[in-house]
Amino acid sequence: MDLRFVVLSGKGGVGRTAVAAAIARAAASAGKRVLVAQTDAVERLGKMLGQPGPIGATVRNVAPGIDAVNMTPRESLHQYALLVLKYEAVYRALFANRAVRGFLSAIPGLDAYAMLGKAWWHTTETGFSGLKYDLVILDGPASGHAVAMLKIPRAIIDATPGGPLVKDARALCELLADPVRTALVVVTRPEELPASETRELVGAARRDLRIAVGPVIVNAVPPDRLSHGAAATVLDRFVRGPTGDPRLDATIDIAAGARAHSETAERVIASLRLDPGLPLILLPWLPSTDLGAPEIEKLAGALTSALDRQQVP
Ligand SMILES: Nc1ncnc2c1ncn2[C@@H]1O[C@H](COP(=O)(O)OP(=O)(O)OP(=O)(O)O)[C@@H](O)[C@H]1O
Ligand SMILES: [Mg+2]
Repeated sequence: MDLRFVVLSGKGGVGRTAVAAAIARAAASAGKRVLVAQTDAVERLGKMLGQPGPIGATVRNVAPGIDAVNMTPRESLHQYALLVLKYEAVYRALFANRAVRGFLSAIPGLDAYAMLGKAWWHTTETGFSGLKYDLVILDGPASGHAVAMLKIPRAIIDATPGGPLVKDARALCELLADPVRTALVVVTRPEELPASETRELVGAARRDLRIAVGPVIVNAVPPDRLSHGAAATVLDRFVRGPTGDPRLDATIDIAAGARAHSETAERVIASLRLDPGLPLILLPWLPSTDLGAPEIEKLAGALTSALDRQQVP
């Protein structure tokens, strides 16, 4: 909660956006001013933060203490170019040129860098009384793309002799490399594939990126009500074979599936715990197909209590 820049990644669909919204809620409740910056994401954040409509490509306030933006490469580049070029007319003269547009679209990584750069810029943005945001949460791209994105600033420094682009890339690198201010937070589900992608991403970050790896967030952990206690005894009795009642058999199948799911979750969580440098934060599975503000509030509560527990020596 004291970080300034949190970069979220992980396998597609595991709940990065839900976790971004939950961190934002938890931080805002602790009195922080937060920006959630999405990287051209499928629009789900609006509903999660209790908004009737989508977030859109312009920063706006969405809840007390929380601003949000769904960055697009084009809009981010436009804003960055304006910061450098100062005048819209100069921007238009340059960027309306087809040759320039063709040249820009051929630069690998420019789209990702435009959005990472914009998110970084917001960490430096000032308002009436100092910095505008205490915390910027980058709802980043899925694993492989995130690694590529986070490598770009260093590549710019290594490849370019000087100028404003290098100055900003250097400041961005310093922010990414500072464990007091920044962490890469990987989100996963307690399932085999997302967990193995998590291990790969953490490995790549430790090997190839200068960024601190924060806790891994294991999202949507199913409740374990069928492995112990009375329900487990009943299930054990019936699961041995057909009962002769098709409705009862169907119900037993569902219960057995739920138990297998939570046993897999337990096994995957245990295997992730084998890495001692990787604290885990578990967030519950919530019985909803489309998370809204009340569910995000629950995830924020679970996150806050997990962080409080971790701070106990
Ligand atoms: N803890 C949870 N319990 C139940 N459902 C969840 C939970 N977290 C996320 N979901 C659901 O899972 C789906 C994916 O969540 P989300 O959009 O946050 O994932 P994502 O990683 O951002 O996906 P994408 O790769 O599309 O950006 C959504 O339908 C969301 O409602
Ligand atoms: Mg998302």
